[in-house]
Amino acid sequence: MADDLSTRFDFATIAIHAGEAPDPTTGAQNTPIYQSATFALPDASQQVKQPGGQPEGYFYTREGNPTTAVIEAKVAALDGAEAAIASASGMGVISAALLTVLNPGDHLVCADSIYPISQDFITTELPRLGIDVSMVDITDLDAVREAMTPATRAVLTEFLSNPELAVADLPGLAEICRDQGARLIVDNTFATPYLLKPLEIGADIVLHSATKYISGHGDAVAGVAAGSQEMIGPMRRFVARYGSPISPFNAWLLIRGIKTLQLRMERHCQNAERLARFFEEHPAITRVMYPGLPDHPGHDLCGQLTGGRFGGMIAFEHRDGESGCQQFASKLQLACRAVSLGDVSTLVLPWTGRNLVRLSVGIEGIDDLIADADQALA
Ligand SMILES: Cc1ncc(COP(=O)(O)O)c(C=O)c1O
Repeated sequence: MADDLSTRFDFATIAIHAGEAPDPTTGAQNTPIYQSATFALPDASQQVKQPGGQPEGYFYTREGNPTTAVIEAKVAALDGAEAAIASASGMGVISAALLTVLNPGDHLVCADSIYPISQDFITTELPRLGIDVSMVDITDLDAVREAMTPATRAVLTEFLSNPELAVADLPGLAEICRDQGARLIVDNTFATPYLLKPLEIGADIVLHSATKYISGHGDAVAGVAAGSQEMIGPMRRFVARYGSPISPFNAWLLIRGIKTLQLRMERHCQNAERLARFFEEHPAITRVMYPGLPDHPGHDLCGQLTGGRFGGMIAFEHRDGESGCQQFASKLQLACRAVSLGDVSTLVLPWTGRNLVRLSVGIEGIDDLIADADQALA
């Protein structure tokens, strides 16, 4: 499928076909894993390109690789972006985005609900480089406006926060950023392009920990970012210079995973909605955080932005506090106690030091998941 035609097709068609064609040398229908560090130069006089110099030709996998180019084309097409860049992890694209947009003396406004490791990077590495940071409640647009200074060059938020599922008002944040001339960077890991395309509502860069739903099978650590050429070009050079490209094998795992993203997301959403309703009615559970429940503070906003799809992540508080959460996680038989999320199988994580359990609801049979949760709460 020609990449420039891909926006004419349905999501599932784009996920399967964008960026791919039978291999020109062998006719292989699936994209091969081009597991090669280096590529033959066509003639002895050809100059080695600058960092991030693909895609006209490949010469070294740190700079670009044909398997990697396919997952980049797919994510760009699904996000409605001019370009995308893959990296060795979600943190690889988060750091590349921030360090290409921000310079010493600049200021970042960042959601205080963001993934703890992103927060750690932002609060330790950025100040070391002379970049100021303000952490704010991103659901409070007045607080965001107040935090902006003449030096603010970017706002970073997750659309659905980890673990509490707060919903960021992306159209409101995009307006604030436009007024200020700042870039809006959105980590869309929880929602994926299937639920929401932040670039269409004013974001400048969208980030995915592709380790999660894009891979979908818990077998690769990877990150992908999408945006305009103006945004992604510098990130591509950054990934090459700092040496954080994705491996061809992991790129191939993402290619395979993303083809079923729509089917999986639909099932994740259905299962999570059913489980959230089960938890809401269970006497052992005192609070359920799931944007699909009508009393969640972000329910209406999330529904408007995603067309009524609320994702596969749930968090809840237990009547017996932290020990109740730990007992629940220990007694589950189908779910694995583990960090990470977005797998086909259900993962459960009791939060250390808090009365909170996070569930990444898988695509197993919903009656089995409810029965398992029921016995674990008994
Ligand atoms: C929302 C979110 N963003 C980014 C990351 C970082 O991604 P990775 O683990 O692929 O580096 C994670 C990891 O859990 C995450 O949950």
